Amino acid sequence: EKGGFETFMLKEIHEQADAVAETIADRTVREDGVDLDEPGALDEELLKGVKRIVVVACGTSYHAGLIGRYTIEEWARVPVEVEVASEYRYRNPVLGQGDLVIGITQSGETADTLAAMRLARERGATVLAVTNVMGSQATRDADGVLFTRAGLEIGVAATKTFLCQVAVMYLLALRLAELQGTMDAPRRRELIADLKRIPHAIAELLEGEEERIQPVAERFGPSSFFLYIGRHIGLPVALEGALKLKEISYIATDAYAAGEMKHGPIALLDEATPVVAVATDSPVLDKVVSNMQEVRARGAHVIAVATEGNTEIGEHAEVVLRVPKLDWMLQPILAVIPLQLLAYAIARTRGLNVDQPRNLAKTVTVE
Ligand code: F6R
Repeated sequence: EKGGFETFMLKEIHEQADAVAETIADRTVREDGVDLDEPGALDEELLKGVKRIVVVACGTSYHAGLIGRYTIEEWARVPVEVEVASEYRYRNPVLGQGDLVIGITQSGETADTLAAMRLARERGATVLAVTNVMGSQATRDADGVLFTRAGLEIGVAATKTFLCQVAVMYLLALRLAELQGTMDAPRRRELIADLKRIPHAIAELLEGEEERIQPVAERFGPSSFFLYIGRHIGLPVALEGALKLKEISYIATDAYAAGEMKHGPIALLDEATPVVAVATDSPVLDKVVSNMQEVRARGAHVIAVATEGNTEIGEHAEVVLRVPKLDWMLQPILAVIPLQLLAYAIARTRGLNVDQPRNLAKTVTVE
């Protein structure tokens, strides 16, 4: 049932190309636009008029929401807030008609996310569920549903479901941009072509990646603390990489907006600290590079995730994990993969059960 892989988590990491292909396939048939007008989806008139979006989610799904924020704001120019569901539901949020609330939940059963969605509905907002499970409670608590099509995920750590959530957020952002008239057809065509390249890029990246990462895991695996940094679209990747490592290896991690480092976390750095920097090509890359220099000036070690072909990064990091080049806004869906595998390899080096980490459950049906 593990299809020749040693764990479900590793199997599921390797299923990511197919899972994303499945999630985008029939939604990207048109060359200059995304189609989301499918059974169970929201009325498109509603998307056309939406003025404000709030995403509610927990854990890894929250990170997918953060990536959605950057893309929706950049492409569709609709303001987006992203909130941890367990906080949002107790905050007496300002919400009402005309607002779109998106609940992202792989299982469709997370108690806090469901409660936040119900609260939003009571206040008159429209609720969209992004979930991987047909017939789950989230599908019943929403006005519309967009399914990720990752297939069953058994490993407790979310991997392929996360990539599919990110893919759905890209699709939704592009559809919103078209409906709201904020992106011209040539640009949409470019992005859709790149979206369709993602499955192949994932497969290419996975080829030989475990062998490349193993020595990195062996070198840094004994560390007791890892700092992850990123900016803009790289920040959710840093947060997700840090969450993966802490949940399956039990190593303390922190993830920070790179620009905040000097406001506190830099005090944690010493000669023993590995710092994972998400440094894929983007308009803020030079800022990330200066943060990497600050890290190295304290004697700490930089493990960078960078875009293939960027030779400069090698001068500022001890280890560079490369991902294929796509439009810079699409890089996160690839950049997270080496970080999944790094967490995986470190946990395995420590002899841990990655499929069922201690204290964690796959579905959190209590608050
Ligand atoms: C982390 C992880 C959790 C879930 C969170 C939300 O690897 O799996 O953080 O992402 O419990 O779960 P769903 O998406 O089912 O609402």
